[in-house]
This record gives sequence, structure tokens and C-alpha cells, in this order.
Amino acid sequence: MAHKIRVVFVCLGNICRSPLAEGSFRHLVQARGLDDRFDIDSAGTSSYHAGEPPDPGSVDVARRNGIDISRQRSRQLVREELTSFDYIIAMDSQNHRNILRLAANPDALRGKLWLMRNFERSPEGLGDDLGVPDPWGGGRRGFEEVHGIVHDACGHLLAFILAKDKVP
Ligand code: 4NP
Repeated sequence: MAHKIRVVFVCLGNICRSPLAEGSFRHLVQARGLDDRFDIDSAGTSSYHAGEPPDPGSVDVARRNGIDISRQRSRQLVREELTSFDYIIAMDSQNHRNILRLAANPDALRGKLWLMRNFERSPEGLGDDLGVPDPWGGGRRGFEEVHGIVHDACGHLLAFILAKDKVP
């Protein structure tokens, strides 16, 4: 059995943005029949919502797009697991910074740690250095916007990984 490609999506609370990214990415991977090649996860840099399901705004927008994220549960990212991931996708620069601070050896994350929006428009990871806006506490439009951004970015991210890891 080949090594599974381990991907984790990271935001602050792991209840709004990263659950949507996890759901979108898994959906795209399943559509390509590549489930058994990937280990897909999400986490928060905080423990504020540990153990909770995703925010209803995220569950609803995912469901409207044919994706069920209701069984996910929030958890905090821990230092010891960082070395085990092949791709760590931060939703914004604050979380990117938090991940570097959490790492015992930040240099070891070079080439693994990315911003989600780097993939929004380009499968080369050359997109914007912008954050995925935090929709927490806002209305349905904010969650729709997040879904649109992460869905586009996840498509390009998958193309990037498949090319880089030479997945046939
Ligand atoms: P998320 O959204 O990072 O996309 O899950 C947030 C959820 C909760 C909080 C902030 C952002 N909070 O401060 O509790």
C-alpha cells in the first residue's frame, strides 16, 4: 500500500472554514476515485470549539452543494502531528503564523505549509496571499462566499498535489 497523502486544513475554530475545505476536498477526491490515496483532516489553532460539530452556516452551505460535513467534530491542531502531514493548508495568515509558532521546527514546514487562497486561481500555488474571510457569526452570504473560495481553491490544490506527487 502506497503512502497516503496527508492533507490538513486549518482555521481558528475548526467550525466554519476548515470543515468546509475538508468537505470540499474530500468530495473532489471521491469524485476522482482517489479516496484510498488520501488522508484528509481539518483542525483549529484554538480549542475554543473542541468537540463541537461545524457551525450550522457551514453545514447548510455544504449540504446545498451536495456535501455532508455534519459528522465532523472540532479539534485543536497539536505540535506532535505537524511532521506527519504532507500538506498543511491555512485559511489565513493569522493561522499560518500560529502554525509556524506551534511547530518545534518551523523550517521543516517549508514546502508543506500553504495559504488556501494561494490555490484559488492557480494550480501552481501562485494565487493571492489573502485570507479566507471568517464567516463566524455572520449571515448566509458569508458562508456562501467561503464555500465558493474554498471549493475553487480545493480543485486547484488537488491538481497541484496530483502533479507533484505523480498520482496517476
Ligand atoms: P473558523 O471561524 O476559524 O472558520 O472556524 C471561527 C469560529 C470561532 C471563532 C472564530 C472564528 N471564535 O472566536 O470562537
